[in-house]
This record gives sequence, structure tokens and C-alpha cells, in this order.
Amino acid sequence: MKIIMLGAPGAGKGTQAKMISDKYGIPHISTGDIFRANIKNGTELGKKAKTYMDQGLLVPDELVVDLVVDRVAQDDCEKGYVLDGFPRTIPQAEALDAALAKLGSKVDYAVNVEVPDENIITRMSGRRACVSCGATYHIVHIPTKVEGICDRCGAKLILRDDDKPETVKKRLAVYHEQTQPLIDYYTKQNVLVEVDGTKDMEEVFAAICNILGE
Ligand code: AP5
Repeated sequence: MKIIMLGAPGAGKGTQAKMISDKYGIPHISTGDIFRANIKNGTELGKKAKTYMDQGLLVPDELVVDLVVDRVAQDDCEKGYVLDGFPRTIPQAEALDAALAKLGSKVDYAVNVEVPDENIITRMSGRRACVSCGATYHIVHIPTKVEGICDRCGAKLILRDDDKPETVKKRLAVYHEQTQPLIDYYTKQNVLVEVDGTKDMEEVFAAICNILGE
């Protein structure tokens, strides 16, 4: 099952993608997490990506396409995967389709998690991310057992640099301009499904499972 998660920044794509990955036993591939790991490790890719991410801009297509195309060709992706944060532009979607066609494969579901802009800024300012394993929480909606400490691995939680309100506004504008057109793109391919992301995260997950099946 090859799944793409669509939705505005902070819509809950990552939260749902992790749950899908656990339930269906397929890898969760987050381009945002890949970039953050590269920034943390001080790689050349991380240094380049950071200059765009800190401004709320997309990293150029040429820095992300090959990385994902190589990743989905790996053995653990044979049964499927859930892509979170990719594609984000029409050229990225076309590159993915072309790469999948070469592997004799295609996208099965593009899951659009819908959350209005007005809910997003509140969500993002309350989000906390683990510096080590990338797990995400929310200080109100999804609190950790011990404040500031990851339930999963015990590392410290931080507020992401790009979750500050001004940067979030920029990310939303970029989303509407460059990523939202993918909704039409996948509607035309007949693979788009939509869920109400304003519901409680377990309800959102139940709606997704209902679509994907047991
Ligand atoms: P990325 O990390 O992909 O950021 P994003 O798409 O903006 O998405 P987020 O991770 O911010 O949010 P999410 O939808 O995953 O929400 P989450 O589940 O965490 O990318 C970061 C940057 O990297 C980009 O801006 C860009 O610069 C670059 N980049 C990445 N991929 C790229 C690409 N393909 N091309 C170019 N550039 C790229 O949830 C948000 C919060 O809400 C959390 O606190 C969560 O706990 C909480 N929450 C989740 N669900 C619910 C719920 N149902 N109710 C209440 N709270 C909830």
C-alpha cells in the first residue's frame, strides 16, 4: 500500500503517518524528518535545507526528489510506505509518478488531512518534538507523561524553529500556493481521500483506517 499524506503544515500528517506505519507495518518516510536529521548531523544537505526551512520556504525540488526516489526503491518499501511531506509541488509529484512507473507501481491513496488555517497556528505553537526520535506531542492535546521528556525514548523535547508564529504563517502561504494544487492532481488520478483533521487524533485515525481497510 503506497500512501501519500497531504495537508497543511501542522494538519497532523506526521501524527497519522506514524500510526499508519505501526498498524500496517510499512515504513514512514518523512522528508521533514530526513532534513532535520541532516541538520542535526551537520551534513551539507542539512546546511542547505536549513536556510530554506528557517524561512518557512520549501527546499528546492532538486535537493529532495532523488532522495525520496532512492528511498522508495529500497527493499523495505516493497510492500508499501507512507510518505509524509512529499510530494509538495507538482514537479515532485510528477517525478514520483515517473519513478514509480519504472518500478511498475503507483500511488494507491493520497490522504488529505483537512484543518482550517485558523486552527493551525495554535496547534503549532503547542507542538513539541523529540530531538532524538522525532516523535511529536502537543502540550494540551497530546501531552507527555513527564513534561518536556519524550515518552518513547526519554530524550528532550523542543519547539521547532519553524513553529514560531511568523514562520508558520509563511509556511501556510507556501502550502496554499505550491502544495494545495496536489489535491487536484491526485483527484484526477482518482486516489484522493479526505479526512477531517480537526477531530481527535484517534477519530482521525479511525476514519483513515476505514478507508484503507483492515
Ligand atoms: P515537515 O516536517 O514536513 O513540516 P510540515 O508539512 O509543515 O508538517 P509538520 O511536520 O509541521 O506538521 P504535520 O502535518 O506533520 O503535523 P503533526 O502531526 O506534527 O517539513 C518541514 C520543512 O521541511 C518544510 O517547511 C520545508 O522547508 C522542508 N521540506 C520537507 N519536505 C519537503 C519537500 N518535499 N519539498 C520541499 N521542502 C520540504 O501535528 C502538529 C501538532 O498538532 C502536533 O503537536 C500534534 O501533536 C498535534 N496534533 C496532531 N493531530 C492532532 C489532532 N487530531 N488534534 C489535536 N492536535 C493534534
